[in-house]
Amino acid sequence: MSSHPPRPVRKAVFPAAGLGTRFLPATKAQPKEMLPLVDKPIIQYGVEEALDSGIDNIIIVTGRGKNSIEDHFDVSFELERMLDEKGKSDLLAVVREVSDMIHVAYVRQKEALGLGHAVLTAEHLVGEEAFAVLLADDVIDASVPVMRQMLDVYEATGASVVAVEQIPGEAISSYGVVALAESGGKTPEFAEHRFVGRACRITDVVEKPRRENAPSDLAVVGRYILSPGIFKHLKKIGRGAGGEIQLTDAMRALAKEEPFYAYQFQGRRHDTGDKLGFLKATVELALKREDLGAAFRQYLNALQL
Ligand code: UTP
Repeated sequence: MSSHPPRPVRKAVFPAAGLGTRFLPATKAQPKEMLPLVDKPIIQYGVEEALDSGIDNIIIVTGRGKNSIEDHFDVSFELERMLDEKGKSDLLAVVREVSDMIHVAYVRQKEALGLGHAVLTAEHLVGEEAFAVLLADDVIDASVPVMRQMLDVYEATGASVVAVEQIPGEAISSYGVVALAESGGKTPEFAEHRFVGRACRITDVVEKPRRENAPSDLAVVGRYILSPGIFKHLKKIGRGAGGEIQLTDAMRALAKEEPFYAYQFQGRRHDTGDKLGFLKATVELALKREDLGAAFRQYLNALQL
């Protein structure tokens, strides 16, 4: 445990330059981050999570065909004037909330060379400080925002933190999987913290292992707090699996030279980059909505599946 509180995390990077092939043809001319979950684009859930966690410097890594993300977080004068003139003050408030939300900077990843490369593209905007990374397609419904939960671990340890989820069976081989330090998940030094038993130092991260070789059943999901030390590894590692610069490869190098924690978050994660995951998220989030939930539940019940 560090004796001084670490420098606060002020910046969150949203890599959004992937090609979204799992969601074709919807993603041919439209970024998957802009697909609506109920009535908000996917990326807005992640941005709200960062803001609710106390991070309001947002850096979005975009690529070709991603202009609608910039338009979404920008002011829309014509729309606002029209809503104002028609006296639609409730809708005006909804639209303004989005553009008032954030200080946002955009950086373009010229070629989709992988998640690690996308993070490296943001280096000049991040600088020499620890920063958050949120993959917007992992939408996590939680009473305490997951990034806030992770910041608690960072503030106590001063170390990098990755969110993990227990994945049973064969499915583990579709993820990056962490190897825990020998203490086996126990964190007695943090007995006074609410994350006790959920955070553990890691020694390694293995990308997509076969089930029998997986070092644990804890899979990496799309939330990270990374020390700026990650950048030198991202520059060194070169292309890995699939010809891409893999964030996992840089994380495993970092875990060998600095303390690095895995944190089992509290919340329900939806993989909205996958068609079935997207449908499940839509249904669950709609059912929780005050304005839609009751009518939607009635409709689903009437289907008598
Ligand atoms: P995914 O593995 O989900 O890839 O990327 P993808 O291209 O977005 O989608 P599929 O698998 O082809 O359907 C994980 C995250 O990393 C970003 C994506 O935008 C997503 O948030 N990413 C990936 C980049 O920003 N650049 C890349 O070169 C690759």
